Amino acid sequence: MDELSLPSEIEESKLPKHIGIIMDGNGRWARKRHLPRIAGHRAGVKTVDRVVAFCRKVGIQALTLYAFSDENWGRPSMEINGLMKLLKEYLLKETPRMIRENIRFHTIGRIQDLPDFAQEVIAETKRKTENNDGLIFTLALSYGARREITDAARRLAEKAVKGELDVGEINQQHFEAELSTALLPELDLLVRTSGEYRISNFLLYQLAYAELYFTDTLWPEYQDKDLLEAILEFGKRERRFGLTGEQAKPNEKKSRKTLNPLSWKLGKKG
Ligand code: FPP
Repeated sequence: MDELSLPSEIEESKLPKHIGIIMDGNGRWARKRHLPRIAGHRAGVKTVDRVVAFCRKVGIQALTLYAFSDENWGRPSMEINGLMKLLKEYLLKETPRMIRENIRFHTIGRIQDLPDFAQEVIAETKRKTENNDGLIFTLALSYGARREITDAARRLAEKAVKGELDVGEINQQHFEAELSTALLPELDLLVRTSGEYRISNFLLYQLAYAELYFTDTLWPEYQDKDLLEAILEFGKRERRFGLTGEQAKPNEKKSRKTLNPLSWKLGKKG
């Protein structure tokens, strides 16, 4: 088996804590092969497997994948049904591995919109992995950032009306606590595959200081080496968070800590 060697050490400060991915290109992958679109999604699920395994090995704290958007409900019903069945199949198959590998399964989005059979398996996987404290693996399902933001605003308004919150004191912490990502670390890196340069209503608030990385690779063809490349590129970026380069650097040095031992070797199959 081909082996992919990671650099001998990766500094903790250079490793994204939270990676978000817009998985795109399943349809084009299928079309190139004269296959139905669902065959592209099925191939995309294999990539999900690889990417989850890779993130766990590298020590990423949180991985959030955009699996089904609010807008995807407009797709042909055959494709929607196929995706929901794939989701169920995937969770049934992968839950034992999540349990074994200390992965906690989480979702964002309106899970109540999904068919009952999908809601049931999601609830079961969440329950079985809720005490795991390794990688937090989140699927965005029936998710749209604009709705997430307006929902958060409405909940804050309701609290204010009930007198639980003083309008004048509403701040970012209050707002962030109402977002579906409240339990996740700050989003550091956003990857989008398939050569599209859009955010498509994904994590709009959370992207404020994320590094953006776009690749032409179609999602079903996305390999460990591609994600490694994105992570290494992330490590090279100077993240200033609005400060000057000089101000930002000392902070980075303070938190520098070597993470991974020399022995790191990852099989391409993850
Ligand atoms: C975008 O490709 C992909 C989606 C809308 C769905 C992503 C879903 C998966 C990877 C499979 C389901 C995941 C799980 C975990 C069960 P596209 O169809 O828009 O591709 P195109 O732009 O080439 O047409």
